[in-house]
Amino acid sequence: MSRIVVAKNAGFCFGVARAVDTVNETVGKFDHIYTYGELIHNKDVIADLEKKGIRVTEDLDAVPRDQSTVIVIRSHGVSKAVYDKIRERGFDVLDLTCPFVARIHKRVIEAGDTPVVIIGTENHPEVAGIKGWAQGEVYVAGSAEEAKKLPRLEHALVVAQTTITHKLWDEVVEVLNERSETLDLFNSICDTTQKRQKEAVELAQVSDIVLVVGGRHSSNTEKLYQLCKSHCEKTYYIDNIAQLPLEKVTNHVIISIVAGASTPDWLIREVKTLMSDVEKVVDTTQDTEEQEVV
Ligand code: F3S
Repeated sequence: MSRIVVAKNAGFCFGVARAVDTVNETVGKFDHIYTYGELIHNKDVIADLEKKGIRVTEDLDAVPRDQSTVIVIRSHGVSKAVYDKIRERGFDVLDLTCPFVARIHKRVIEAGDTPVVIIGTENHPEVAGIKGWAQGEVYVAGSAEEAKKLPRLEHALVVAQTTITHKLWDEVVEVLNERSETLDLFNSICDTTQKRQKEAVELAQVSDIVLVVGGRHSSNTEKLYQLCKSHCEKTYYIDNIAQLPLEKVTNHVIISIVAGASTPDWLIREVKTLMSDVEKVVDTTQDTEEQEVV
């Protein structure tokens, strides 16, 4: 008897749902809608937005000025320089920076010329945005090893990319504490991320198979994959049902489905439906009990 468990905390988080819903409501209100970078890290959602005429740009100079044009700032937020450029070009702005990211910007601004350390991935857009509000020195540490290479700082504000793990936060802060006099610690890991990661680990510990559904560029989905893989060897990272390795994932007792914050519910449902169907096809003597807690 197989059991398919869909994580309670799977799919769009508050910030992403707000961004996608608001952009969809904006269709028809402007001649041109551009998102500054892909709205979310999910190619299926981006393809859907493109069909509605919503374009992606990171080159504001290439966007025509002579029409009714709005630039959408996604939930990751952007640097001050990007805001300034949008204003300078005279575009309307739809600012959908997640409030949990905006409060990091605020804290960084308030720090004035105090050095800032961001614990996260250097080239992630959220980190680039946070960096762009610092008025003094700013450093990024993606691991304890990277933190050891930073200059010694007498005092610093430490913030987190919202989607990192608590383990990474603790490891890096331990190193920074040894190398600094005083630290102002602002653990800005998103509550949603914490709950999602905790539940993913709990499911991985009791599952035979874990399917992690989400875009390849999604930082939080990648973290879920790593966490699940460390507790369940048979963990697979898939963008959508086309990538489901059916020959490897069928005929198991407990199959868990977890998903990142940028994975739409319909994609999760598709995976669950296909798995339910295949389980029935592969062995019709098995009853498939589904425990869905979406
Ligand atoms: Fe915001 Fe947390 Fe989502 S920071 S965008 S609610 S993962």
